[in-house]
Amino acid sequence: MFDSGVGGLTVLKSVRNAYDKVDIVYLGDTARVPYGIKSKETIITYAKESAQFLLSQNVDMILIACNSVSANAIDILQNMLDVPVIGVIDAGVKAALKISKTKHVGVIGTTATIKSKAYQDLLEASNIKTYAKACPLFVPIVEEMLINTDISKKAVEFYLRDFKSLKQIDTIILGCTHYPLLEEDIKDFLDINLVSSCDSIVSSIEDIVKNEGDSTTEFYFTDVSENTTMLLEYIMGKKYDIKSISVETLSNLAKA
Ligand code: DGL
Repeated sequence: MFDSGVGGLTVLKSVRNAYDKVDIVYLGDTARVPYGIKSKETIITYAKESAQFLLSQNVDMILIACNSVSANAIDILQNMLDVPVIGVIDAGVKAALKISKTKHVGVIGTTATIKSKAYQDLLEASNIKTYAKACPLFVPIVEEMLINTDISKKAVEFYLRDFKSLKQIDTIILGCTHYPLLEEDIKDFLDINLVSSCDSIVSSIEDIVKNEGDSTTEFYFTDVSENTTMLLEYIMGKKYDIKSISVETLSNLAKA
């Protein structure tokens, strides 16, 4: 699995809860996070590098635990690689389709995800009316551990106030792996169903992943700061060993 940083750990947690006998290698590109404000070209370059690293670890499949990458680079990775490549967008849409009664769904995510229209196109193909909004400040708020503070509450109000008047919307997709961590803040402001890819990622991989074998979890990050260690422990609920891999090594692997 790979992500731009620690956000993908929310997806890892869901996968690990469902599969206790699977070896997982997680790569977080903490040296270059955030991806969500970068261009499609840059996101594709970084995605190829992360995928090549995971292949060098002999993985059988790759789960893109990042919405910005899934929205902008999944087709490129799927065409390029011989192993199955699964993203998180389908899972988020699946979760929304299951729960929305009004068939009006909001989507929030990074600028790169919302701009790609990946969610909007899939939802509209299922006759769902969508309203999408980029919330770029949510990622740094989570990374700075400002969850459940005046700052997170102000940011939620700033970005999501339109949803108060869009009465037909009964469900919002948290289309960024960091956003489930802001669920409480969002729930305090809006009485609405919140879903994310974490809710149905397991059904997206169940045909490919078998729950047999060991249960190792290896964590690689391109920058290991105190913040990385703290967020890993906060999200996963316990301490893990972290391995460091440089961006230069990733780039060289992709060139080889
Ligand atoms: N993990 C990213 C996503 O799901 C958010 C963080 C970033 O902007 O890199 O879109």
